[in-house]
Amino acid sequence: MKPINVGLIGYGFMGRAHSNAFRKVNNFFDLDYQPVLKAVCARDGGKAKAFAERWGYQSVETDWRELIKRDDIDLIDICSPNNTHAEIARAAAKAGKMILCEKPLSMDGPEGEEMVAAVAKAKVPNMVWYNYRRIPAVTLAKKLIDEGHLGRIFHYRAKFLQDWTISPELPQGGQGLWRLDVKAAGSGVTGDLLAHCIDTAIWLNGSVDKVTAMTETFIKERTHTLTGKVQKVGIDDACAFLARFKNGSLATFESTRYARGHKALYTFEINGEHASIFWDLHDLHRLQYFDHRDEGQTRGWRSIHVTDGDHPYMKNWWVPGLAIGYEHSFVHQVADFFEGLSKKKPASPTFRDALETQYICDAVLKSGKTGQWEKVSRLK
Ligand SMILES: NC(=O)c1ccc[n+]([C@@H]2O[C@H](COP(=O)([O-])OP(=O)(O)OC[C@H]3O[C@@H](n4cnc5c(N)ncnc54)[C@H](O)[C@@H]3O)[C@@H](O)[C@H]2O)c1
Repeated sequence: MKPINVGLIGYGFMGRAHSNAFRKVNNFFDLDYQPVLKAVCARDGGKAKAFAERWGYQSVETDWRELIKRDDIDLIDICSPNNTHAEIARAAAKAGKMILCEKPLSMDGPEGEEMVAAVAKAKVPNMVWYNYRRIPAVTLAKKLIDEGHLGRIFHYRAKFLQDWTISPELPQGGQGLWRLDVKAAGSGVTGDLLAHCIDTAIWLNGSVDKVTAMTETFIKERTHTLTGKVQKVGIDDACAFLARFKNGSLATFESTRYARGHKALYTFEINGEHASIFWDLHDLHRLQYFDHRDEGQTRGWRSIHVTDGDHPYMKNWWVPGLAIGYEHSFVHQVADFFEGLSKKKPASPTFRDALETQYICDAVLKSGKTGQWEKVSRLK
């Protein structure tokens, strides 16, 4: 196996999820490449060192520019807040590094275009961590759709519900709460949660033509952690939008952080001419499937336990019937990225693929302001 020296930026939620994936991938997948945990970078040197010791990184940096300068780093993995993605990615591309970047790709479409241009110019392998594609039940949904089991698609319905920002006392900004600060996050639930729903949707059901959206900021002002001042909240707390896909199907998407009782309820349902599919993140190893062509007496929703050896990715794990979980989607994504390098067929979503989600988010946020249907931009 050829070693690939990883430089990780950010040791938060995703820093942990990716480190776990890098450590496990070669134990479960036969690959030509092996990630080596070379360096972790974060601004707090002490915390970065503690993280390095826990996860097995060989060294620590406190400035990502220094990390990118290093000759012993092959791959930069961006796990820092959204407003840092573009600058880091452009510099990493210029330095000839492979780049894995957390979602959303960028703060908006134009910034994403610059990132796409940078990796294209440098010809460096790149990918965005839309990991839900690689939950076996979701990958199975893709396979069933591509094989034509659903027939013509009429409806796509997705939602992603949380409840953690309801308190007006919650501050915005800084470590842990950057998602509430529009300058760090770019947007609220649209870029954070709906971006996932959109990525899955365009992967399963093709491009979106136009959207019309409703957005709301329920808590208008919050104290900013970094300034100590009460400041206007610039993010969307909730967003619901309608979309028309290129294939003629109609869609509804909804996301909020104000749905009391829901922590991470991501669900989607697709209704086709012959069959329907439903998936729920809370029950992620199951795919619900209804096929109208089944024999009448026993026709009904099947709950497929996606754990058999012939289900996507599952032969690499335990024996049939035993479930895997959220963390494994990241392991699968690393495996697919390396497989893409071996086969010279890049694993998706590349930066270019992920730009489409960015364009849809832009159109949604614009429509939230104009109240009009908005066309989704395309890369020229
Ligand atoms: N794929 C997914 O399902 C998923 C889930 C959560 C977050 N994300 C994305 O991952 C990214 C990080 O989110 P998170 O939840 O891990 O955040 P987090 O707050 O848990 O961690 C962010 C990390 O970035 C570091 N950081 C911030 N600015 C930095 C800088 N200038 N230089 C170096 N390090 C810096 C912070 O110290 C922290 O370690 C975001 O873009 C987010 O949208 C994706």
